[in-house]
Amino acid sequence: LAIAHELEAPYEVEYHESLASTNTRARELADDGAGDVVVVTDEQTGGRGRLDREWAAPPGGVYASILTRPTVPPSQVPLATLAAAVAVTRAAREAGVDARIKWPNDVLVAVDESTGGDGDAEYRKLAGILTEMEGEADRVSWLVVGIGVNANVDADDLPPTATSLRERVGTDIDRRVFLQRVLEEFHDLGTDAAAVLPAWREHALTLGQRVRVETPTDEVVGEAVDIEPPGALLVETDDGVVRVSAGDCEHLRPV
Ligand code: BTN
Repeated sequence: LAIAHELEAPYEVEYHESLASTNTRARELADDGAGDVVVVTDEQTGGRGRLDREWAAPPGGVYASILTRPTVPPSQVPLATLAAAVAVTRAAREAGVDARIKWPNDVLVAVDESTGGDGDAEYRKLAGILTEMEGEADRVSWLVVGIGVNANVDADDLPPTATSLRERVGTDIDRRVFLQRVLEEFHDLGTDAAAVLPAWREHALTLGQRVRVETPTDEVVGEAVDIEPPGALLVETDDGVVRVSAGDCEHLRPV
């Protein structure tokens, strides 16, 4: 059944059976002057991930891009990405999966708690978020938040580091109900740090972990102690607390 059948969203819905990328389609709509639209598809043939990576998007997943024109400066946009991660995490938890957020916005699930003690479980990726925007220094012109969730997808169709809701729950989930929850949560959270950051912290996997973060210019090693607006990670290193911007994160690994 098509994912958008009877979908009730706080946005206008544009549905396609198949698309190259919902983010690319949403950007076209932005160029045409549209706003408050969610582009939804059942499969993508050219899904895009962060840092120019590819995103496997076989049938059975949830692929959606929300186009909005928020009245905020571009500096606040990382909060929208964190909000999307919270929205997906809450919907996944309602579906019965113990999802957690890896900073800044990967949604992960523990796949084997028995491999070790606390913090040693193996985590795999359930969902990712790709945010794109255009704007002047003081105002966003358009914002596209693209959400990809491995919902009813076989592990065989995913990279080895990924898992799916079906794999974790053992049965198919209702993708329409799931997407509806994500859209409602995202809409309700908005981009206000006072609402988004506490919700993000509640589901954080990264906070309290000892991590290695790679940025284009640096490598930071230490304990991830907190996030601060608009989504930067504070890492306590041997030389003091270092602040890493969400957009600068190329790799983050627990060490
Ligand atoms: C990542 O973790 O690298 C981000 C993945 C984002 C994938 C979603 S699927 C819907 C939307 N359209 C795309 O082409 N990408 C995003």
